[in-house]
Amino acid sequence: MRKRVGIIGVGYVGLVTGTCLAEVGHDVYGIDSNTEKIEMLKRGEVPIYEPGLNELIKKNMAEGRLSFGTDTAECVKRADIIFICVNTPPKENSQADLRYVELAARNIAQALDGYKIIVDKSTVPVHTGEKVTETIKRTNKEHLDFDVVSNPEFLREGSAIEDAMHPDRIVIGVTSERAAEAMRELYEPFDAPIIVTDIKSAEIIKHACNSFLAMKISFINSVAAICELAGANIDEVVQGMSLDARIGGQFLRAGIGYGGSCFPKDVAAFIHISKELGYEFDLLKAVQHINTEQRQRFVKKIEETLWVVGGKTIGVLGLAFKPDTDDMRNAPSIDIIRALHKEGAHVRAYDPAAMPNAKTLLEDVEVTFCADAYEAADGADALVIVTEWNEFKQLDLERVRTLLAQPIIIDGRNVFDPARMEEIGFIYKSVGRASTAGPHR
Ligand code: UDX
Ligand code: UDX
Repeated sequence: MRKRVGIIGVGYVGLVTGTCLAEVGHDVYGIDSNTEKIEMLKRGEVPIYEPGLNELIKKNMAEGRLSFGTDTAECVKRADIIFICVNTPPKENSQADLRYVELAARNIAQALDGYKIIVDKSTVPVHTGEKVTETIKRTNKEHLDFDVVSNPEFLREGSAIEDAMHPDRIVIGVTSERAAEAMRELYEPFDAPIIVTDIKSAEIIKHACNSFLAMKISFINSVAAICELAGANIDEVVQGMSLDARIGGQFLRAGIGYGGSCFPKDVAAFIHISKELGYEFDLLKAVQHINTEQRQRFVKKIEETLWVVGGKTIGVLGLAFKPDTDDMRNAPSIDIIRALHKEGAHVRAYDPAAMPNAKTLLEDVEVTFCADAYEAADGADALVIVTEWNEFKQLDLERVRTLLAQPIIIDGRNVFDPARMEEIGFIYKSVGRASTAGPHR
């Protein structure tokens, strides 16, 4: 059944969610406090880099199912289901800053003109649904009926459209059957299992999922460290582990640790809310510690390989926190480049999408931004791989070797096969791969 949907906050999550809801036939009106962003969208320009999003927005705007504005009252009037998708950044003490969620709740309450469903999509700590409900009740002087729903997002940047169109599951936390029914109808076209829970459980599901995935990454990075010390190979260890269906193979890629706008913030917020509730989540504190250490271990690896980093030129391939995005939030590249710069290295960096954002974040650091990977390698004493973009996997390695002043590649994402790299003539260091021989080779 066709629904009228409002989106408050058309950032990564709001824009993808709104566009995909329009794509399955709903009427979507998105607003944002950032007027520049809205003007761009109205002109058909997309303010973020997300594969496939541009085309989908244009198509749905042209077909009249997707439009944008800046006025909350207009958004509330045009919608029966209103999604709150504003950002929930971490405060100094890691607690989620909910000021924008609270503001959205107040703005919605002031504009209510009948029964509405207000959906929290932003990642928030448990009990936020209750707070949003209280806030709307307090602000809405006419005591109009409404329901609050928690509907966490599980979108990965870079594959957000695919994740939104074909989700593994849809989680809906509700307090009324009326809201549950409307949300089931909204998501019916997606053909995915729908789990209906209470609001608090839905909120915890989101924090638990992201923390669990972060834990898998830190776990495998620890095992990779053991492999290096013991002379074993993490690829083979993972292969042996992942064929156990109870473990599975996903999120076991060893590297320089997780970054991005979600894992670091959500792990920290889950630790914080757990403590507030009276539980010390020591396991997650270790996950954080291992992740920070992983970046330092990588810098140490560069130092050990080059002996003296000061005065050397280092080419850095990849700046975004992962491939297929221009997102630099909490990207390991920032810490790594800063550490190299502090040691006196000259950094030449290249990323297919994230350079404009990186330039702003690294304004105070002297970095030469290059037009492509070959330019970054040209004359460098070592090439360092920080983000595993596909175009790096397809590099002409012979050409790279001749461009480098010394044929050294230190690979933080295990992009290449160590044996092949040695054959080509590289001194090649990667993560957790102290041995290269194995029965499957
Ligand atoms: C955000 C949250 O940070 C994340 O925890 C959650 O899971 C989903 O929403 P993201 O979409 O990546 O993630 O944030 P961002 O790209 O910063 O988008 C937020 C948007 O809300 C921005 O466009 C911002 O301008 C807008 N906003 C913020 C408002 O419209 N009003 C406000 O009061 C605050
Ligand atoms: C994540 C969650 O996957 C998504 O469900 C949630 O809603 C938002 O947060 P995202 O941050 O976009 O998505 O990226 P993801 O693909 O999960 O990667 C996060 C980080 O972990 C990246 O820095 C990536 O490089 C790293 N990673 C991922 C690893 O180091 N190893 C892995 O095996 C997987």
